[in-house]
Amino acid sequence: MELLSPPPALITRPRRLRRTETLRRLVRENRLQTDDLIYPLFIIPGQGQCRPIASMPGVEQRSIDQAVLLAQRAWEVGIGAVILFGIPEQKDATGSDACRPDGLIQRAIIAIKRQLPQLVVIADACFCEYTSHGHCGVLQGQEVDNDATLALLGQSAVTYAAAGADIVAPSGMMDGMVAAIRSALDHQGHSQVAVLSYAAKYASAFYGPFRDAAESTPQFGDRRSYQMDYANRREALREVALDIEQGADMVMVKPGLAYLDIVRDVRDRCDVPLVAYNVSGEYAMLKAAAAQGWIDGPRVMMETLTAFKRAGADLIITYHAIEAAEQLRS
Ligand code: PBG
Repeated sequence: MELLSPPPALITRPRRLRRTETLRRLVRENRLQTDDLIYPLFIIPGQGQCRPIASMPGVEQRSIDQAVLLAQRAWEVGIGAVILFGIPEQKDATGSDACRPDGLIQRAIIAIKRQLPQLVVIADACFCEYTSHGHCGVLQGQEVDNDATLALLGQSAVTYAAAGADIVAPSGMMDGMVAAIRSALDHQGHSQVAVLSYAAKYASAFYGPFRDAAESTPQFGDRRSYQMDYANRREALREVALDIEQGADMVMVKPGLAYLDIVRDVRDRCDVPLVAYNVSGEYAMLKAAAAQGWIDGPRVMMETLTAFKRAGADLIITYHAIEAAEQLRS
C-alpha cells in the first residue's frame, strides 16, 4: 500500500493557542476590569425621585438621595468613579445654577462624598443642562460667546471643587477651557483637583437619548460651531495637544464606538490617561436590539467594552457600568 504524503508543513498554526478556554485566557491581550468603568448619574431636584428615561432603558434621573444609593451600588460592585450631570429646577440664560455653591450638582457632590468618601466624583462642567436655550455657554446673539463662557466655567469648576469633586470634566468644547479652569482652580486653592478634558468631542447624533435624559436639546440651531465635525481625524489630535498643553490631566474621546480610530490615534500620540465615552445612542441601540431578541445584549456589551480597551482607552464612561461590573464579578 502506498503511503499517503504528509500534509504540507504548517509551521504557524494560530489555532493551537485557541484550543481551550484556559489557553485563550493565557494569551488574551486586553482585559476589561471594573476599575476601567465610570458610571454616569443624572441628578434632578427633589426627594425620593427616580424617573426612567424612555430612550435609555435601565437609566433614571434621580434626586440626590436616590443617586447616593445608586453610587453606593456602583461602589459595591467595584466601580471607582461616577460622573455627574444635573438637571436643575431653574434654567436661565447663563446657566447660573452651575455656578452656585448650593447648586444641584454641588449638593449632590457633597452628599455622595459624605456617604462614599473614597469614590472618585467627576463633575461634568458644561452649561447646556443649565441654560434656557440649551447651548453649552452664554450667547452673544445666536452664537456661543467663547471667552464669556470661559469665565463662568472657571467659577463653576471652583464650586464643584469646593464641594469635594476630585475631577472636573469640561465638555463644552470652548477654546481655552482647560487653561481657564486650571487657573481658576489653582487661584482658589484647588491645585489638587484634576481636569479631565472632553478634548475630542464630536457633534454627534449619538447624543440624542442623553439630551432626553439631561433635557439639554438646543432650542435653536445645533452644536456644530463648537463640537467637532465627525469627518475630521487630524483635528482631534490638535485638540488633544492643545488641552494637554493647557494642563489637562486626562483626555477624552467622544462618542466612542464609531470613533475607535480616534481613540487609537490619541493613545499612540499622548501619554496621559485616555477616557472613551460609550455614549447614550450607543447604549440605546444595544438595548433596543437586545430587547427585540436580535442580539445577545450582555455578550455584545462585553465585546463592545473590551473593544474600547483594545483601541487604547484606559477608562470607559458607560451606562452599562453596573451591569458590566456584575458580569465581571460572576
Ligand atoms: C454636555 C454633554 C453631552 C453629553 C455629555 N455631556 C451632550 C451634548 O454635548 O449634547 C452626551 C453624552 C451621551 O450621549 O451619553 N455637553
